[in-house]
Amino acid sequence: MKLPIYMDYHATTPVDPRVFAAMAPYFTEKFGNASSRNHSFGWVSEEAVERGRERVAHLINCDPSEIVFTSGATESDNLAIKGAAIGHRDKGNHIVTAATEHKAVIDTCKRLTHEGFDVTFLPVEPDGLIDPQLLADSIRPNTVLISIMGANNEIGVIQPLADIGRLARERGVLFHTDAAQAAGKIPIDVAAMKIDLLSLTAHKIYGPKGTGALYVRKSLPARLVPAMDGGGHERGLRSGTLNVPGIVGLGVACELAGGEMAKETERLTGYREKLKERLLSALDHVYLNGHPSKRLAMNLNLSFGYLEGEALLMSLRDVALSSGSACSTATAEPSHVLRALGLGEALARGSLRFGMGRFTTEEEVDYVAEKVIEQVKRLRASSPLYELATSGAGFDSDAWKHPAQV
Ligand SMILES: Cc1ncc(COP(=O)(O)O)c(C=O)c1O
Repeated sequence: MKLPIYMDYHATTPVDPRVFAAMAPYFTEKFGNASSRNHSFGWVSEEAVERGRERVAHLINCDPSEIVFTSGATESDNLAIKGAAIGHRDKGNHIVTAATEHKAVIDTCKRLTHEGFDVTFLPVEPDGLIDPQLLADSIRPNTVLISIMGANNEIGVIQPLADIGRLARERGVLFHTDAAQAAGKIPIDVAAMKIDLLSLTAHKIYGPKGTGALYVRKSLPARLVPAMDGGGHERGLRSGTLNVPGIVGLGVACELAGGEMAKETERLTGYREKLKERLLSALDHVYLNGHPSKRLAMNLNLSFGYLEGEALLMSLRDVALSSGSACSTATAEPSHVLRALGLGEALARGSLRFGMGRFTTEEEVDYVAEKVIEQVKRLRASSPLYELATSGAGFDSDAWKHPAQV
């Protein structure tokens, strides 16, 4: 087993060697501009782009012509939300999203409030799921768009996309989903789920960073307003010379993810349950964040009472994990996702996210479990608060109560 161990697959993934091998020629001998119509260099690149488009489309069951290549899920979210909201402004100015969305959705919606849009940020249940009735009740005559993510990047919770899609279609509202974490991990069928717009990104599925896609349903009532003007690439929705190697990589990454999904889900669910059982049986005051089964196989998110997540991370030098104390690189605020589940600041700060993936081994899972148990015990041994809480002296701080307990 090689150290350090990577268990932060929600943040990003390594490029699969099979993906890398497929991309390599498009950096060197097959370097043509996919828009060059007059020579074979261009044709070779264009063909590769179209093959990539077919592979992405196949993963989510849409027509290849409905795929727009972008630089990643952040750009796809921006194009989908701003493009659809502004493009459909005639219909209304209200958007519905959820409190647990990624900042790429939350901040994009917030930006639109400066353009006269009104945004509802739906609260979630303590298990991280949205309440379908609350969603239905939030739709108004002027609602133009619902944006609810497929799977959460912190707690892995999978939202009921088909139910949301059905509701949105019935009520004549567009449905966008940020599937950055869901695509390639759970089955997605945009036709069956009645999804109008879907964002995905290559670097979460063993493809390269800086390449993503937006699915745009062909028969939307109005055109999206493009985020980038220029040469008119991608049906005018996203101008700019296409990133051919990136698109080839995204295509192969989608194909591999689709083919290996069932097997990987089973393997990683086994690892996740093993890791959870080990930690919960060896340690007290540990709580699972997010629904126990409606979550990505790869995701385990736990809060450790009487402990700072950052201190625990620092003590786990040879394991790459993430804590819920920073929701983005720029802030040290406790995670807005964990806060939305109802966790107090202390438990939100005392959380760890375990993200397993294609190259995780059972040996690594065992090692991480042992290390975490060892370090939690060590840190708590010098914690007066933990001592008080477990000494039977009647100390019971509300600050450390988990919503799953109450
Ligand atoms: C749910 C979700 N949405 C959007 C993004 C942003 O994706 P990208 O890095 O491709 O812009 C991420 C990645 O952090 C994510 O997890």
